[in-house]
Amino acid sequence: MAAFRVTTEPMLAAAARRKPHSSDAVLIDANENPLGPSQPARDAMSAILAQGGRYSDELTDNLVDIFAKMEGLNRDYIRIVVGSTPALALSVLTFTSPQKSYVTADPSFELGMNTADHAGARVVKVPLSKTYAHDVKAMLAAGSDAGLFYICNPNNPTGTMTPHSETEYLVANKPKDSVVLVDEAYIHFTETQSALDLVKADKDVIVLRTFSKVYGMAGLRCGLAIARPDLLDKFMQRGGYNFMPITAVVAATASLEDASLVSERRRINATIRQQTFDWLSRNNYSFIPSESNCFMLETKRPGQQVRDAMAKENVLIGRVWPIMPTHVRITVGTQQEMDRFQSAFQKVMKA
Ligand SMILES: Cc1ncc(COP(=O)(O)O)c(C=O)c1O
Repeated sequence: MAAFRVTTEPMLAAAARRKPHSSDAVLIDANENPLGPSQPARDAMSAILAQGGRYSDELTDNLVDIFAKMEGLNRDYIRIVVGSTPALALSVLTFTSPQKSYVTADPSFELGMNTADHAGARVVKVPLSKTYAHDVKAMLAAGSDAGLFYICNPNNPTGTMTPHSETEYLVANKPKDSVVLVDEAYIHFTETQSALDLVKADKDVIVLRTFSKVYGMAGLRCGLAIARPDLLDKFMQRGGYNFMPITAVVAATASLEDASLVSERRRINATIRQQTFDWLSRNNYSFIPSESNCFMLETKRPGQQVRDAMAKENVLIGRVWPIMPTHVRITVGTQQEMDRFQSAFQKVMKA
């Protein structure tokens, strides 16, 4: 079934990951959060384990209510999903077709491109602008037959931002029946404006959020699809209804209720990222400045060679995008992991 031919971030990371890797390898290749779930999230999961024999749909309803209140949304505009992957794949399968193209930045997260390709849709890749934002005017020009415009903000892999005004421009000028999907998987690492206001204004906009990144719950699987109810129905019903794992739901709820979690983790990520950038600059290595938990590092030789050499040093770094063959994606890990990254990178580059 097309719906299950989806190439996810862990699949993309694992496809290139050295196997087996040793247990003390530095894993900065899949944009995971090394901090894992917060303590309140862990406590909530432990407390709910005994109820694992029940579907407990009311816990999911409660999570919807809390998010709706936090963001000033009507609860019908929100669906809880097992990570944002299925919502992204289903929206691509619903709004693209052999007649309706998928328009994305390049480089950007490949899940949508691969899904559209499997569905027989034209995949239109538009290079990022000089400031590494989505070039929405070029996306509009190239996508007169668009079914879905994909905006990843901040972008994976560059960690760069697209101003809200650009997303508004895209929404105001897109072909009538097309949809704009704004993937906000990494938005919590920044203080940028979300596109949720466009959903509230009943535009043809889908916003995706996930608990996999700042909240450190990638292995627990919880995300949010937010859109006008008629849009949500159109794509979510293709995946059928399923219950959520209650561990993920209570951990997500505890994470949202923790008022300082996002700002604290944003600060930790920014501090380690800046330390890494300072070290790279001091050592004359080039990189694209990022506001997220990943960035593109220039290797001045085929990026894959550097990945292979780094893997021999037990440091697994992220993949290469065809449009930037001499760059690799680096995830910001813990300070200790980034120290090991620095020693290994210096050794590899000086070899
Ligand atoms: C931009 C982006 N969107 C969506 C996802 C999917 O994340 P998940 O299914 O864990 O929510 C990822 C994963 O890395 C991502 O980078």
